[in-house]
Amino acid sequence: MNQYQTVADDDTVLRDGTIKLHGPEAFEGMRRAGKLAAEILDELVPLVEPGVTTGALDDAVRQLTLDGGAMPATLGYRGYAHSCCISINHVVCHGIPSDKTLKEGDIVNIDVTPLLDGWHGDSSRMYLVGDVPLKARRLVDVTYECLMLGIEQARPGNRLGDIGAAIQRHAEAHRYGVVREFCGHGLGRLFHDAPEVIHAARPGTGPELKPGMFFTIEPMINLGKPAVKLLSDGWTAVTRDKSLSAQFEHSIGITEEGCEIFTLSPRGLHKPPYA
Ligand code: MF3
Ligand code: CO
Ligand code: CO
Repeated sequence: MNQYQTVADDDTVLRDGTIKLHGPEAFEGMRRAGKLAAEILDELVPLVEPGVTTGALDDAVRQLTLDGGAMPATLGYRGYAHSCCISINHVVCHGIPSDKTLKEGDIVNIDVTPLLDGWHGDSSRMYLVGDVPLKARRLVDVTYECLMLGIEQARPGNRLGDIGAAIQRHAEAHRYGVVREFCGHGLGRLFHDAPEVIHAARPGTGPELKPGMFFTIEPMINLGKPAVKLLSDGWTAVTRDKSLSAQFEHSIGITEEGCEIFTLSPRGLHKPPYA
């Protein structure tokens, strides 16, 4: 069976586990959804301050998403009731917005996914709350470098494993742990689709990258060991050793020449410090 499928740019949503190869109209749809995701993350920069609740940030994400003509894809997704995920310090991913307040020294990931005209723009960035210790800032910097080194491998002819290999190599050179339990994913008309994009892999393994593939790269990197555990709320993933964890996420499309990053910040706010 062919694991790839060239899809028409109509509104058909195929949940058949094939890797979709999209055309120009789909690129245009992803460009708009990705740009909105990036604009929302840009708008959050001045709001991430000591004392703000993660619930207030979630309210802002919901409003910014609606103002952009989109819906937060997480709202109602598998029973999730919020407009984004906010993961603080040792929370690896899927932190649930609440009345918890941010405090000086926290490192925070905010992950947004506007669904605009049927297309998903999925992106996350780290934010620093006030003064953050050097060790934590280094983790954030290296995690951003991991994402970008992974993206550098995203071109036709390379394999998916080349992306994970580049990420793992860089993270482990800094003695950080690469989370295995959560992966990047195909997306487009679906929020989570084939292929699974693993962030620790052997070079030259996995499906070949072809023009028209859309997927996220979203490495979660721990200051300590890679192991995570799920809290009893069924969503929040934390590091087992309680070490800090960081993550950045972009949505990309493979082109003839390499790739297009759909979720680049229009204001150049790629990584902290944003001031
Ligand atoms: N945005 C996350 C991702 O990068 C998924 C969040 S699903 C939720 O894939 F339900 F936890 F919000
Ligand atoms: Co994602
Ligand atoms: Co995401």
